[in-house]
Amino acid sequence: MTFKLTSELMSGFEEIDGQHRMLFQRLDGVMEAVKSDDLTATKQAFQGLGDYLIAHFAAEESFMAGASYPERSRHKSAHDLFMQDFAQLARELEATGLSVPVLQWITARVPEWIKFHIQVNDLPLGRFLASRRFRPDVESRRVDKQRTS
Ligand SMILES: [Fe+2]
Repeated sequence: MTFKLTSELMSGFEEIDGQHRMLFQRLDGVMEAVKSDDLTATKQAFQGLGDYLIAHFAAEESFMAGASYPERSRHKSAHDLFMQDFAQLARELEATGLSVPVLQWITARVPEWIKFHIQVNDLPLGRFLASRRFRPDVESRRVDKQRTS
């Protein structure tokens, strides 16, 4: 496993930390597919990562709304910008396959952004939610169901 949720990336809010753990597993799946130079497997794993990111960002955004988190609009903007970048990467992957720029983007830029975002945006959010003893409702936790799929 290449990507691990190390202690400095944990917020203490289990709902978010658990989703990040899953996110890193999906990221690892993409890296494995890239390493084996398998375009079909890479596209599949990449799509799976994108689906998980969408569900995970939606869950965080619902936690922020539910807890009236003061930084929520800035945090959501970071999610939106990243997903625009991710959609662009998906188009590049489709158009050029496992080209050098695409490989660089997948193996460096994506994981760097995710780690940076966790450190800068998600840790303060998780600590805020933990300190408020925030309890997500069932609907906003639905991303968890993907753990078994
Ligand atoms: Fe986030």
